[in-house]
Amino acid sequence: MTIPNAAASVAPSASAQTKPMVSFEGVIKRFGGTGGQPAFTALDGIDFSVSHGAIAGIIGRSGAGKSTLIRLVNGLEKATSGKVVVDGIEVGGLSETGLRDLRRQIGMIFQHFNLLTSRTAFDNVALPLEIAGVDSQSIKAKVGPLLDLVGLGDKANRYPSELSGGQKQRVGIARALATDPKLLLSDEATSALDPETTQSILELLKRINAELGLTVLLITHEMEVVKTIATDVAVIDKGRIVEAGSTFDVYANPAHETTRTLLASALALPEWLRSGIKRSPSAGDRALVRLVFFGETAFQPLTGRLVAELGADVNILAGGIEEIGGKPFGSLVVSYSADPAVIARAEKFYAETGLKTEVLGYVA
Ligand SMILES: Nc1ncnc2c1ncn2[C@@H]1O[C@H](COP(=O)(O)OP(=O)(O)O)[C@@H](O)[C@H]1O
Ligand SMILES: [Mg+2]
Repeated sequence: MTIPNAAASVAPSASAQTKPMVSFEGVIKRFGGTGGQPAFTALDGIDFSVSHGAIAGIIGRSGAGKSTLIRLVNGLEKATSGKVVVDGIEVGGLSETGLRDLRRQIGMIFQHFNLLTSRTAFDNVALPLEIAGVDSQSIKAKVGPLLDLVGLGDKANRYPSELSGGQKQRVGIARALATDPKLLLSDEATSALDPETTQSILELLKRINAELGLTVLLITHEMEVVKTIATDVAVIDKGRIVEAGSTFDVYANPAHETTRTLLASALALPEWLRSGIKRSPSAGDRALVRLVFFGETAFQPLTGRLVAELGADVNILAGGIEEIGGKPFGSLVVSYSADPAVIARAEKFYAETGLKTEVLGYVA
C-alpha cells in the first residue's frame, strides 16, 4: 500500500508550514540532585523539531531518554532548561488550565495500552470526553465512528480482557483520538505486539496521519517501526540526538555508531552470525557487508556482477527489496573473504557502480 506523503496532503497554512508542530530547543532534563545526591542528566541538550503532518520517529536503546523526551511534550515532565514548543505554545510556561487545554490537543498511546479493565471498549474511548464534560448524546455520536475507524465497530461492548493485544491498542488509539487532537504521541505502542499485529497497527497510524492530517511523534527501540512509517527520524543516545534526517537518508547512510547498531539488529541475521561479529579481522576471517541499492537500481545484475568480480566466494546472508518513504530500497548482507586483495577488488567495484556499502564487522 502506498500512502501519499502526509505533509504534502495536509496543505497547512503558510504560517503553520514554517512553524513546526513540535520543537525542542536546547532541552536539558535532570532528575534528582536533591539532598546531596548528584543529579542524573536524562536529556542533555536536545534540538529537534517535527513538522506539521509528519510522522517522526525517535529511536534509541532502552534508557536513552525517549520516554522522558515525549513526556515533556504534554507537560508530564518539565524541562530543567531549554524550551519545548507545541504548535507555537511553550509547554513549560503553561498554567494548570493551559496544560489541560494543551493535553486535549495531544493524544497519547502506550506500550501496555493503559485501558481501564472495568470499562468496555466504548467506555474507554468515551473517558476523555466525559472528563472534558461532553454530554452523553455527543459522546455516542463521537465514539461509534471512532471505533469504526480503528476497525472495532463490533467490539464496543467488549471488555479489555476479551480483546487481543492488537485490539486493545486499537481501543487505545480510538481513545487518543476522542478529543480531536492535532498531535499523537506514541510511546513504544507496538513493543508488546507480535510482528504481524505491529504491522497492522502501524498501517492504522499511517492511515490516520494521512486521513486526519494528524502529526505523529513516536518513540521506539525498533528500527522496523521507524522504517515502516516514519518520514523523519532522530536517533537518541544517552540523552543526545546523535543523528537526524529523512528516514530514507538515515537508513541508507547511517553516520553514527548507535544508528548502525540499531540497523544491524533490524537485519534478519541469524543469531549465531550476529553474536559472532567482531570489529577487526583476524587471518582467514570474512567481511560482513551490507550493500544498499537505491531507487530503480537493478538488484539482480549488480549482485551477480559482485559475485563474478570477487570469485565464487560470496555468501548472501540476508536481504530483500523494501520501500522506505515511498521509495524502493534494497538491502543485502553478504560475506566474503577479508583478504586485503579481495577487499580491494570489492571496493573498486563499489566505486565503479556507486553501490553504498557498510562493513558490519568480521566473522570467522
Ligand atoms: N522520574 C525519574 N527519576 C529519576 N530518573 C529517571 C526518571 N525518569 C527517567 N529516569 C532516568 O532517565 C533515563 C532515561 O529514561 P527514559 O526516558 O525512560 O528512557 P527510555 O524511554 O529511552 O528507555 C533512565 O536512566 C531513567 O532511569
Ligand atoms: Mg521508554
